[in-house]
Amino acid sequence: MVPFGYKATAFMFYSLVAFIAASKDDKEKVSKVQETDRLLHERQLNLREVVFVIQSQRNSFHAQRAQRLRADLLLQAEALQESLPAILLLHALSENEGDWSILPLLPYLSSHFGKNSSWVMFLEEETNIKLGKLYSVLQKFERRKEWFLGKPLHDDESTIIHHYAFAENPSAFKYPDFSAGWALSMPLVNRLSNKVQEQPLKSDFTIDLKHEVALYIWDEGKGPRLTAVPELCTLPEHSPQAHHCATTVNTHSPLCGEPVKRESIFVAVKTCKKFHTERVPVVKKTWEKQAAHLEYYSDHADPSIPTIDLGVPNTDRGHCGKTFAILKRYVSNAVPKTDWLLIVDDDTLISLPRLQALLSCYDPTEPVFLGERYGYGLGQGGYSYITGGGGMVFSREAVLRLLASGCKCYSNDAPDDMVLGMCFNSLRLPVTHSPLFHQARPEDYARDLLAHQTPISFHKHWNIDPIAVFHKWLIDDAHGSGTERLRKAPKEEL
Ligand SMILES: *[C@@H]1O[C@H](CO)[C@@H](O)[C@H](O)[C@H]1NC(C)=O
Repeated sequence: MVPFGYKATAFMFYSLVAFIAASKDDKEKVSKVQETDRLLHERQLNLREVVFVIQSQRNSFHAQRAQRLRADLLLQAEALQESLPAILLLHALSENEGDWSILPLLPYLSSHFGKNSSWVMFLEEETNIKLGKLYSVLQKFERRKEWFLGKPLHDDESTIIHHYAFAENPSAFKYPDFSAGWALSMPLVNRLSNKVQEQPLKSDFTIDLKHEVALYIWDEGKGPRLTAVPELCTLPEHSPQAHHCATTVNTHSPLCGEPVKRESIFVAVKTCKKFHTERVPVVKKTWEKQAAHLEYYSDHADPSIPTIDLGVPNTDRGHCGKTFAILKRYVSNAVPKTDWLLIVDDDTLISLPRLQALLSCYDPTEPVFLGERYGYGLGQGGYSYITGGGGMVFSREAVLRLLASGCKCYSNDAPDDMVLGMCFNSLRLPVTHSPLFHQARPEDYARDLLAHQTPISFHKHWNIDPIAVFHKWLIDDAHGSGTERLRKAPKEEL
């Protein structure tokens, strides 16, 4: 009884205190609300405090999409008030190829906007934004503090694309889904900018930028973690659940007209003797029949597949010799003349119909080199490349320019994708990123990320049933969502 009586008395006492405190609080709250209203009003007159960075790309299709997003933002800003915010297109800011990895760009942002702005908001081309809503969301955060805002993703298992980070508890670390947009407050931009300038960025590879940026900011607890903002969304714009959202995304893959014809794509599959019975049958059972023109290249001619022996000895590590032999064969009379070349590994899983749809957005007379972009040494003037396993797509023009340049492998076993990246970099031709190509397996990517993608490829058979993965992720059957998505996708009007 005693403890109960004590607790009851204590409870009444604290309730009374709470009651008195509440009535005092309420008065404060009222004046706070008025104050907030006033600030809010003032702040809305100050749209220019937010600097927008569109994570744009040089390829003409992407540059136009980014310009369209900028035009839309300017229209919205005009409708809210006259003074317009700075909206930067990342690809046009400098000649530095590594800018897409964001960290090298921070000193620029800090020196130009560090004193006169409060936020940097990063957007992808496919991010839709409701500007008014976004401003009221940003106003909730004290702008003099360090903030890293976004829609969080997490890993369910530790994954190779994040170097198996946080193996003991993979879901604990949150990183932003770039499609939803993400923001840094200016005090954080300024501090990071100093850090970038004082200690050169040491990471060699840029693989999954959003994870790497979050790690760099968090800095083992010395910097802020990602703060989840529920209004930054990756729902489709017209979804009924998106009512509260300040950002939404286009979940369909882009379609800019009729998909290119099957006959416009030549497919090269790299294999070697030891995988003729293990991996080639998977290609045959899944996506081979989607191709009009396809050849298998090996170190051994096997008429039952058939494979073509390119006369390049197989190498365990890179396949540079083999890949350059494929490029030369592609422009020779030995194969049909096509607009596009796709080079994949024998353990790549790919949807050619979705690739045909995507390629409707690109001009084959331009030098296009497309796939999942990785970076090497970007902090110190390195280069970008299309990672081979997810599939490398070349326009004929890109192959012709590459071969004409005389750029070549430094050894047969050099990593082909990286050498190609170096070659394109020295030609000053951009590599074009599409997040729909994947260098790893579906389980290696955050579930919430894949939920708003129509993926084109995955790679590697390790610990999965590749045929099941193909059917689950890459097939558009008559009733499946994939084809429907493509059909319903509004066309890109450029
Ligand atoms: C801040 O300064 C930059 C130039 O350094 C300018 O382009 C931008 O418009 C300025 N922003 C504001 C809000 O004054």
